[in-house]
Amino acid sequence: MLIEAPRHAEMFGSIRIYDVQKVLKLESKEFESLLLHSIDREQIEGILDKLAVIIPIKNEKINLLDGVLRAIPDNCLIIVVSNSSRMKRDVFKMEEDTITRFHNLTKHPAYLIHQKDPGLALAFKEVEYTYVLDENGFVRHGKAEGMIIGILLAKYLGKKFVGFIDADNYIPGAVNEYVKDFAAGFCMSESPYSMIRLHWKHKPKIVRSRLYFRKWGRVSEITNKYLNILLANHTGFETDTIKTGNAGEHAMTMELANIMKYSTGYSIEPHQLIYLLEEFGKRDTKYTDAANAGIEIFQIETLNPHLHEEKGEKHIKDMLLDSLSTIYHSELCNDYLKSKILEELRVNNVLEQNHVPKKNLIIPPVNDVDIKKFMKVLEEYSETFVKFE
Ligand code: GDD
Repeated sequence: MLIEAPRHAEMFGSIRIYDVQKVLKLESKEFESLLLHSIDREQIEGILDKLAVIIPIKNEKINLLDGVLRAIPDNCLIIVVSNSSRMKRDVFKMEEDTITRFHNLTKHPAYLIHQKDPGLALAFKEVEYTYVLDENGFVRHGKAEGMIIGILLAKYLGKKFVGFIDADNYIPGAVNEYVKDFAAGFCMSESPYSMIRLHWKHKPKIVRSRLYFRKWGRVSEITNKYLNILLANHTGFETDTIKTGNAGEHAMTMELANIMKYSTGYSIEPHQLIYLLEEFGKRDTKYTDAANAGIEIFQIETLNPHLHEEKGEKHIKDMLLDSLSTIYHSELCNDYLKSKILEELRVNNVLEQNHVPKKNLIIPPVNDVDIKKFMKVLEEYSETFVKFE
């Protein structure tokens, strides 16, 4: 792969956020240049062997899941965490059938589990990690909760990297690129605590019967603006470096995934940045190894456009509210920024006058989970866990 070298990095405490790096060519030989990184196929393959791709899914079109599965490079383990309906129309069963057919045809290893599996809830209780459970004792609804389940399975299997790919992607070729972009990011990183966040080259929309290649998603543009203001308030330098505030497609080293706090709802991706800025922007973090090694955040602009399922205006508004709420409630957010966020939410009709956004629920890191015990209980009591090996 041929990818731009970052021209600039924003530094805050022990965090380094690199400027967006464009993918210039998907395949490339070794190449000497100060302005470009060339990453050969073997290097990428070396990372893919150690990467688990986690696919959170809830009631998506089954053809889209099928396309996403087929696009994952051969050597990556696939972990599908579903929260799909099991009522009248058993969507979960359709997903299981799809993965079974895919596995029989390709022998690609994959794990599948349903988020509401009682055995899963029991495993969380047994290891005393109950932050993901609802008032009925089941795992809560939510993509973040699904991601955490995937991380724990990958951790048990000794995977070094975890990448997240949404199941509602229309372009399998793009998915294949995303996973390789994750690997390219890890090839460039020098710290064991690194994160790769993808920025779409374009998000195509149909406008007056024509395809229009939009550069920015509506929510991401606003989230990025306020994340950058928050950062500038603390460094004293205005910046536009953050361009991946809402990056659904992202990846982390297991070291970083282990110490990450997760926010529920649509705030999970912006909150990852907020958490890292809060925890590693200060001097007295309890994660001294991570602070000494440094936290690296890469933002990679894909070559492929991103075409996913459109979920309507309410979905966009919820995403905006959750994203800005996570910035609003950050300990790094000052009164001026809070007032600007409230203004933005009101202009966009997502918050009533005199209201403040609700604080998102924050889930603590998974590093203390006794993973062997978790898996032992899960394997014994799960009703939906399937290993396609
Ligand atoms: N396991 C699980 N549990 N998966 C879920 C759940 C859940 O409760 N809810 C949604 N998902 C899955 C969806 O099926 C999809 O694969 C993925 O999570 C993201 O879907 P949505 O939450 O519907 O979000 P989106 O597709 O509109 O937005 C995506 O991109 C945004 C940035 O553009 C998400 O990745 C967002 O998190 C991201 O901010």
